[in-house]
Amino acid sequence: MDLQGKVAVVTGAGEGIGRAVAIKLARHGATVIVGDINPISSEETVSLIKKEGGNASKLIFDVADFDAVKEAMQKVITGYGGIDILVNNAGWDQIEPFLENTTDVWDKVININYRGNIHCCRAVLDHMIEHKKGKIISLSSDAGRVGSTGETVYAGTKGAIISFTKSLAREMARYGININCVAPGPTDTAFVQKIPEKLLDSLIRGIPFKRLAKPEEIADAVYFFASSMSNYITGQVLSVNGGLTMAD
Ligand SMILES: NC(=O)c1ccc[n+]([C@@H]2O[C@H](COP(=O)([O-])OP(=O)(O)OC[C@H]3O[C@@H](n4cnc5c(N)ncnc54)[C@H](O)[C@@H]3O)[C@@H](O)[C@H]2O)c1
Repeated sequence: MDLQGKVAVVTGAGEGIGRAVAIKLARHGATVIVGDINPISSEETVSLIKKEGGNASKLIFDVADFDAVKEAMQKVITGYGGIDILVNNAGWDQIEPFLENTTDVWDKVININYRGNIHCCRAVLDHMIEHKKGKIISLSSDAGRVGSTGETVYAGTKGAIISFTKSLAREMARYGININCVAPGPTDTAFVQKIPEKLLDSLIRGIPFKRLAKPEEIADAVYFFASSMSNYITGQVLSVNGGLTMAD
């Protein structure tokens, strides 16, 4: 229970990887704020955590809306005495060739994935700076490291998250704040079910471990960055991908 007494906000924790992260952090003792745009799935995550004896509550907001994000984070800071861990996990994608993208798709992908990340970081930083501590973990993607057909703008936002993380980590190190990225490969969530079956099969054949990641396996890496085991690590990107890509 090494996260006992810590408050963690996990965005997009209503399902998939975010839910697995919320459950994992709660199992390690954190009080988890399940941040999501979907009240029904968020409540399910909260119930799953409470059933195990953990502490959680839901907070409904859209990460793309900076005012809503600021209000939500302030509510947590006031109501729970602070935010120790922020997990920027909420994300969205529409898989299709770039030439078929509408500008609405560009806007939605950029606003949720990239601006959402910026919004949440900005909204917690004054508090973390004041307390000279904090852990921020953002979900990038291997698509952001090596590109991905059919996810062109999405991959751009995930690459942006990596360079944003590295730059912010440099600026925030003096305040004792650790900022890192986890970059999943294809993971078994609703997100991946959008990929056409044939494409998914060939994707899985290309993974050295020949299977998708389980959300819990991504959550393990997030937990590592949220815990004291990573106190001397900042500005890093950890791929969790069954060997699909290998960074030098
Ligand atoms: N599943 C994969 O294969 C995979 C691979 C690489 C990276 N990722 C990244 O991991 C993260 C989680 O992916 P997932 O597969 O669990 O996704 P998912 O689609 O299963 O879940 C996403 C969650 O985010 C929430 N959400 C969406 N828009 C939101 C908004 N504007 N504000 C607040 N919440 C919002 C949804 O309601 C949902 O609960 C994403 O950032 C995704 O890009 C996923």
